[in-house]
Amino acid sequence: MSLDRGNTEEEVKEKAKVEINELSKQLHLHAHKYYVLDDPEITDAEYDQLFRKLESLEKNFPELIIDTSPTQRVGGQALDKFQQVAHVKPMLSLTNAFDNEEYQAFHKRIQQTLNRSDFDYIAEPKLDGLAVSLTYKNGLLVQAATRGDGQIGENITSNVKTIDTIALQLQGDHYPEILEVRGEVFMPLAGFKNLNQTQLNNGDKAFANPRNAAAGSLRQLDPAITATRPLAFYCYGIGHVENPKHELADNYYDLMFQLKQWGIRISPLLKQLPTLESCLAYYQKLVEVRPNLDYEIDGVVFKLNHFADQEKMGFIARAPRWSIAYKFPAQEVSTTLLAIEIQVGRTGVLTPVARLEPVEVGGVTVTNATLHNQDEINKKDVRVGDTVIVRRAGDVIPEVVRSIVSRRLPNSTPFVIPDTCPICGAVAVKINDEAKSRCSAGLTCPAQQKEVIKHFVSRKAMNIDGLGDRIVEQLLENKLILHVDDLYTLTKENLITLERMGEKSVDNLLTAIERSKQTTFARFIYALGIREVGESTALSLQNNFKSLELLLNASTEELLLIKDIGDVVAKNIVTFFADEKNSRLVQSLIEAGICWPEPSINQSEKSQALSDEIIVITGSFENFNRDEIKQQLHQLGAQVSGSVSKKTTILVAGEKAGSKLEKAQNLGIRIINEDELNKLLNESSL
Ligand code: IVH
Repeated sequence: MSLDRGNTEEEVKEKAKVEINELSKQLHLHAHKYYVLDDPEITDAEYDQLFRKLESLEKNFPELIIDTSPTQRVGGQALDKFQQVAHVKPMLSLTNAFDNEEYQAFHKRIQQTLNRSDFDYIAEPKLDGLAVSLTYKNGLLVQAATRGDGQIGENITSNVKTIDTIALQLQGDHYPEILEVRGEVFMPLAGFKNLNQTQLNNGDKAFANPRNAAAGSLRQLDPAITATRPLAFYCYGIGHVENPKHELADNYYDLMFQLKQWGIRISPLLKQLPTLESCLAYYQKLVEVRPNLDYEIDGVVFKLNHFADQEKMGFIARAPRWSIAYKFPAQEVSTTLLAIEIQVGRTGVLTPVARLEPVEVGGVTVTNATLHNQDEINKKDVRVGDTVIVRRAGDVIPEVVRSIVSRRLPNSTPFVIPDTCPICGAVAVKINDEAKSRCSAGLTCPAQQKEVIKHFVSRKAMNIDGLGDRIVEQLLENKLILHVDDLYTLTKENLITLERMGEKSVDNLLTAIERSKQTTFARFIYALGIREVGESTALSLQNNFKSLELLLNASTEELLLIKDIGDVVAKNIVTFFADEKNSRLVQSLIEAGICWPEPSINQSEKSQALSDEIIVITGSFENFNRDEIKQQLHQLGAQVSGSVSKKTTILVAGEKAGSKLEKAQNLGIRIINEDELNKLLNESSL
């Protein structure tokens, strides 16, 4: 905005005021489209541009800054303590059900009280965060409060204003004069992981779980700190309302969509369900979907849909009789840490593993959990004999969260990873700044030998079917093999001597070994087990080196030219092939008959056809398995990712695709089925 000479100061200010209001309105609208409707209309860069324009106007006219300006999310003044807020209507809690029987009892009670069966339910995930109340006056967010004891909570308005997914200003103009919405503030898992990493890097304590992190973030006296925390919000109801312009919906489902139009974010998993059976099916579906969600949920909340029906049901104590939380099996339980054992991996890394008193977590019996390394053990201060909290979350891998120090045995001592390899006795050395230590014996250590062979024969490597861990162990124990190339000299006479190996299984195994010789260059590279050369690096190497010869002689500089290969990996590759033992091994494997199709002449051009795509694969397919799809896409230069985000360009959706499909639909990402995938692969390979 320019300061025209002809304008008086007042006129300039008036113009700025109009512009500030207009920019504010536009930014609120675009935030609504992005966060609530998942349907952005402008790019992030365009949004930033509008935002900066507003910021600069506000800098020139600070007196014109509106409380709910999008720029005010960064947080206001720090507080000494939180003010108390009395809830006009109490914030209630929910009764729980833990199995189908308890859920059925809830349903029966409703049937009996209403004396009919034609009512419907609403189901939503039970979010594992904190309840908040948000009050909008004439469409502006004027107050946010915690639940507190249900009657009185704390005023956390400045903190809540920093949460992107909470509207500072409602959309449209038909909202009530006063509208109190209620919902859950939570921390998405990706943000939680990052936050904990930052905490640790700064020497601060990590949060035990996303719920604690969300609580700690909301109860910051300095809103500038809250602003840095990745919080999110879903609404699940309303509280006090004054002067609605139109009558509000008479049922929860319609009300939620009315709120959504006004800019309040609601759960995308909200469903209207007509029967007990459909409710139980929804619960089962959520149990399955849960590991793929980017936030923690601990059950399903069912509510009677119609408010008239809710009223008839009334309350018991402080919980409504028209709603129930059907909880999932606990994800966090306590058990005893029986021992810490050291496992030696393929590259010699010593990994401490917790042996636990078997315990059921989230429906699965857990007996072991990795403790990662010495730093983790120190940080969590876990000792043998401790009562520990074990958790299965987000992904399915169980972990030890912490010890309950108050229940520690008096004579316990901190655990220290030994400085010798527990298998071969060689010295274990710490590598540079890494938190891990490695057995220094290399392939003379039986543990490393075994892991190297297990890796070599595994499905994604040479894929030797029928060569399970137990057989590998026996082959080594009986000294029938020492290195991977010895696998190709095995005979029927050798194998028949092994335990539980009949003629048929020996024949099958020999056929599988023989068949594995016809492989791909990438599988072969991966099978060698070069440090940090995973499947996808192996594919890049295949695509960039026309022959094994060229790869064996590649310099660090040449390797660094390849996309995805950094200093460490390049160095690992060069060091691996420079070791005479390794180059002899490669030679011997080739002599044994391992071979692969020569890359086609135009391989390198071909490999770039999909280089702009970031592809996610979900569901199951009739003619492919996922690894094959992944490999083919990689070969064409595409990046294949495990989760759907704004950056995803294509979702390949097979049968029974679940939440990823839903998310991709919401984000407007291109979705293709198996036939279309086939077409894409064929066209891109031309
Ligand atoms: S409804 C009267 N819906 O669970 C009903 N609550 O145990 C009020 N929660 O304090 C709550 N997700 O913090 C409702 N979809 C959902 C929920 C939910 C999480 C929390 C909420 C409440 C607690 C009750």
